[in-house]
Amino acid sequence: LAKVEVDLSAIPEGKNVIIKWRGKPVFIRHRTQGEIDEANAVDVKSLRDPQTDSDRVKKPEWLVMLGVCTHLGCVPIGEAGDYGGWFCPCHGSHYDISGRARRGPAPLNLEVPEYSFDQADENKLVIG
Ligand code: FES
Repeated sequence: LAKVEVDLSAIPEGKNVIIKWRGKPVFIRHRTQGEIDEANAVDVKSLRDPQTDSDRVKKPEWLVMLGVCTHLGCVPIGEAGDYGGWFCPCHGSHYDISGRARRGPAPLNLEVPEYSFDQADENKLVIG
């Protein structure tokens, strides 16, 4: 399937869902204002893969990214790790609440796939 539609109204604030797209997991998090603030408070220059949070999202409350660790491809665990985001149990990579690599062997931030919000229905996310 080239594109997948996701009904965002089913995802409460502060929750993650995982969907499958092109055989890969995609993480979607409905972030809280506190999480958005935290993501924006990070000193980008301190990051190994420097990206601002706004480089990574189209709407701050919706974080969408591939659930594939950039080290060797395991699936990180949500709401885990030392940076309030994801933790990859394979070799101990920590990602923050923007999906940016913060500690451990992961060289890059979690990849953001192509996606858009439906023009007619803002609760509909289209991945692909
Ligand atoms: Fe995730 Fe190695 S595959 S830390």
